[in-house]
Amino acid sequence: MSLNERDGAHVWHPYTQMLTQAPLLPIVRGEGVYLYTEDGRKILDGISSWWVNIHGHSHPKLNAALAAQAQQIEQVIFAGCTHRPAVELAERLVEVMPPGLNRVFYSDNGSTAVEAAIKMAAQYWRNRGEPQRSGVIALHHAYHGDTVGAMSASEDSVFTRAFTPLLFPVPRAHSPYCYRCPLDLKRATCRIDCLGDLERRLAEHGERTAAVLIEPMLQGAGGMIVWPAEFLGGVRQICDRYGVLLIADEVLTGFGRTGRMFACEHAQVTPDILCLSKALTAGYLPLGVTAATDAIYQAFLSTDRGRAFFHGHSYTANPLACAVAIASLELFHESDVLGRVGRLEQQLRAGLEPLRALPCVGDVRVIGGIGVVELAGDSGYLADIGTRLGAAFLERNLLLRPLGNIVYFMPPYAITDAETEWALAQIGDVLDS
Ligand SMILES: Cc1ncc(COP(=O)(O)O)c(C=O)c1O
Repeated sequence: MSLNERDGAHVWHPYTQMLTQAPLLPIVRGEGVYLYTEDGRKILDGISSWWVNIHGHSHPKLNAALAAQAQQIEQVIFAGCTHRPAVELAERLVEVMPPGLNRVFYSDNGSTAVEAAIKMAAQYWRNRGEPQRSGVIALHHAYHGDTVGAMSASEDSVFTRAFTPLLFPVPRAHSPYCYRCPLDLKRATCRIDCLGDLERRLAEHGERTAAVLIEPMLQGAGGMIVWPAEFLGGVRQICDRYGVLLIADEVLTGFGRTGRMFACEHAQVTPDILCLSKALTAGYLPLGVTAATDAIYQAFLSTDRGRAFFHGHSYTANPLACAVAIASLELFHESDVLGRVGRLEQQLRAGLEPLRALPCVGDVRVIGGIGVVELAGDSGYLADIGTRLGAAFLERNLLLRPLGNIVYFMPPYAITDAETEWALAQIGDVLDS
């Protein structure tokens, strides 16, 4: 039996209508930006395997780091024990994260990094004697993950709707979605007026709010919305004015995806809490980080054990994942990875901007290593056009997974100029036809 037939007998896939799903890609191998299938196809991974891969698949240095660590210790409980990979990774992260983030709390994926951040913010205020400050304010079009807290903070959408009765209420403020401006203004002449909505929510709910939670510079699953940097700077100022914490969810944007190591750098912002995952391990293994400032950490120190941060997972700080993450950060030092992302950004801009002339194209957005084409007309994740376009790209051996009417290209940074050019030509041809 083929892999697909065996899969069909027992496996259940994420976000997948198993009754109507087209045959799956049976992947047997990966190298660089390519995935190889059981039936001999070579497919360019244009979505970095769900936004995680940055240096390419099956990278020799990362493979070696993983194998070497497996010879030492593969996994150990992280309460009461520590290990070299976790300590060294924390040291290296503190060196590269926005200044002031000195404390690294580990978990094991993006949703749990966010979940831990929300809980950390609430308990911070409780430990400081302000337990009424337990709420979160988020933004429209947000996506923060699939656990209950992360879903509560995410936009009401097809991702969350079946679970609405389980979620806690989260006020949502406008996001700077310039193409579909919530205030009907134009970016060229507006003064980031959409920030006023966040200010209003804080004026109303501020005293009950622990933190504002954002995806800085790029809201991903909610529509690949690229922000003006002024909005990010403004959010920090408003949080300071109302004395609430700022949580930056950089699960997607961290590690160079927007052209800076962290998206917060676009506005020289240090959040109080920073969430990392995905490219943290270069796409090798699940790992989450919720980093905090000393001020947050200090609020948990007490002779009372009950004030400790009660959150943890079996695979917290898995040594294999930490070892690969260290090797990935070494690659950033050994070669000019961010410079490479900068060149990719230029190429994406040059290749995608002309598509604005197509009647089906509503907007083109580029930031760092991500190029986005929003089609005019029907929007939403379930818009049928997304599935049809995905199939058309795949026929050309390009793996993309449009978010409904939003087509985006987010390859591993290891992609060459020629491979990028080829992929952009496929995108242009498919949209044109
Ligand atoms: C901004 C953001 N936060 C959190 C998550 C959740 O991460 P995970 O899928 O690892 O749980 C995602 C996933 O796409 C994300 O894009």
